[in-house]
Amino acid sequence: MKKTKRIALITGGAKRIGASIARHLHHCGVDVMIHHNQSSIDAKKLVAELNNLRADSAATVQADLLDQESFSYLIKEVINIFGQLDFLINNASTYYATPIDSVNESSWDDLIGTNLKAPLLLSHHAAKSLKKTKGSIINITDAQIHNPKKNYIIYSIAKAGLATLTESLAKELSPEIRVNAVAPGAILWPESNLEFDDDYRNKVISQTLLKRTGSPKDICKAIEFLLLHAPYVTGQTLSIDGGRKFS
Ligand SMILES: NC(=O)c1ccc[n+]([C@@H]2O[C@H](COP(=O)([O-])OP(=O)(O)OC[C@H]3O[C@@H](n4cnc5c(N)ncnc54)[C@H](OP(=O)(O)O)[C@@H]3O)[C@@H](O)[C@H]2O)c1
Repeated sequence: MKKTKRIALITGGAKRIGASIARHLHHCGVDVMIHHNQSSIDAKKLVAELNNLRADSAATVQADLLDQESFSYLIKEVINIFGQLDFLINNASTYYATPIDSVNESSWDDLIGTNLKAPLLLSHHAAKSLKKTKGSIINITDAQIHNPKKNYIIYSIAKAGLATLTESLAKELSPEIRVNAVAPGAILWPESNLEFDDDYRNKVISQTLLKRTGSPKDICKAIEFLLLHAPYVTGQTLSIDGGRKFS
């Protein structure tokens, strides 16, 4: 029998790629729990926009993913509001340089915490609910993990760990739950990172086979494929990077 109701939790879903994922899954008929930390205004606006299209189909929940209590809290909130969980999208992230002479525990805790520890512990807390719905997890990694960006040591370690976590979870949570990753290339430039000036952007684009950036829609379509149209796919990473790794 075809399932009528499906619920996705999207971490960091208020803005940028996370908001596009929320809109796209909602458009596919999935109800969405949009997690945010600081972007409460954006989250509320997005929830209003989506509920206007389909009543009671979106909600938001605030949590700092560096807080140990947040993981069980987020899953409980999804179940309280929607009654079930079908899809967990680990999208929230922090991203900044940590050259070797400046690495410290605080940036380690932050970058590993958001990019790796949170996906692991959210998956742990979500597993029981996802087993009931035969659900899926998507981890958003980074296409550059095989050629890590200089000075971004901790971020690169965290995303490489997330890629391995994807494979480990696929084994641990099978056969009920599928776990896959989407690895973006240059999709949306960071908003406040001066390193990403025009020269740098042009250099990155010239390194792609397709000679352009991608768009959040490209990420959304990959996620839609893995969640809704790929029942025999698990433990895989789909790179959406314009062929950058071949240049
Ligand atoms: N942008 C790209 O081209 C690109 C390239 C490669 C990989 N990626 C990956 O794709 C995903 C989305 O990229 P993006 O650029 O849209 O991400 P982003 O804007 O850098 O971050 C997404 C969200 O993460 C949330 N976040 C950060 N720290 C948090 C914390 N301590 N607790 C809870 N939430 C926290 C923030 O939520 P609030 O705003 O609510 O605080 C933020 O809006 C990320 O996993 C990123 O690593 C993106």
